[in-house]
Amino acid sequence: MTLLDVRGLTVRTDEGRVLVDDLGFALGAGERLGLIGESGSGKSLTSLAVLGLLPPGMTATGSARLAGTEVVGAREKELTELRGARAAVVFQEPLTALDPLMRVGRQIAEPLRRRTGLKGDALRKAVREALDQVRLPDPRRIARAFPHEISGGQRQRVALAMALACQPDLLIADEPTTALDVTVQADMLDLLDGLVREHSMALLFVSHDLAVVSRITDRVLVLRHGRAVETGTVADLVHRPRQAYTAALVESARKLESALDVGAGG
Ligand SMILES: Nc1ncnc2c1ncn2[C@@H]1O[C@H](COP(=O)(O)OP(=O)(O)OP(=O)(O)O)[C@@H](O)[C@H]1O
Ligand SMILES: [Mg+2]
Repeated sequence: MTLLDVRGLTVRTDEGRVLVDDLGFALGAGERLGLIGESGSGKSLTSLAVLGLLPPGMTATGSARLAGTEVVGAREKELTELRGARAAVVFQEPLTALDPLMRVGRQIAEPLRRRTGLKGDALRKAVREALDQVRLPDPRRIARAFPHEISGGQRQRVALAMALACQPDLLIADEPTTALDVTVQADMLDLLDGLVREHSMALLFVSHDLAVVSRITDRVLVLRHGRAVETGTVADLVHRPRQAYTAALVESARKLESALDVGAGG
C-alpha cells in the first residue's frame, strides 16, 4: 500500500488565496522524496497539510491519504491518532517542538510512555537510549537540561529523538538543518540518513537547497508558487532541468557547494 498518497491537494486562505495548487505525489513505505523550491513556494504548507496541521485561516481540499486514512477533512481526534502512530515531523526550529519549561528527558518520556507503557526506571532507561540513538553525548546530563541549556544542534537531535519515539512509518523533516552551521548540518544529515534506514521509515525531506536534498534522497519534487513544476531524480534535474526555475536551483546549489567546499561525498 502507498504510505502517503497525495492527489489534487490544494491549500487556500479564507480570503481565497491559493497557496498550494493541485499537488500530487506518492510515497511508498521506506521511500524518500525531497520537496524543494524557493522560499514561499509552499513546501512547509504542503508538509503541514498532509499531517492535518495547517494554521487557522487555511483550508485544504483534495486528498492526502496517510496509510489509507484520509487526512483532508479528518477530525482532530483521528488526526492525533494518525500522527502519533504513523507520521512524525521535525521542523527547522526545534524550539517550536519543545516545551521551554520542561526538562528534555520528560519531553521524550511522554511519547515513549504513550507508545510503550513503560514506567519508572525502565522509562528512564528508554529515554537515555533514545538520546543515545541520536548520538547525544552524556544523555543523563541532556535529559536533565531545559531546552535553552543545550545547543541548537543538540535541540534538533532531541526533536528527532521525540519524533522517533513514536516509531513513525513516515518522517517529515522540514529544513531540519537550515538553522545549523555547516559541520553540524552535515552530521545531522548523516544521522538522519542512518536512522531513516535503520527504522525503515519513509522520508519527506523539505529544503530550498538541492545540494542538501541530494545528500539524503534521489527523488525530488520541485515546487514553485505552490505548484509542482518538475519531478525526477537529482541527476535528472542537474543534467536535464526542464525548467529555467529548476536550472536556477541547481546553479545556486552548485555555488553553495563550492563556496562551502562540502561537495565531495559528505
Ligand atoms: N499563516 C499564513 N497566512 C497566510 N499566508 C501564509 C501563511 N503561512 C504561509 N503563507 C504563505 O504561503 C506561501 C507558502 O508558504 P510556505 O511556508 O509553505 O513556504 P516555504 O516553501 O516553506 O518557504 P520557506 O523556504 O521560506 O520556508 C507563502 O507565500 C507564504 O507567504
Ligand atoms: Mg518552509
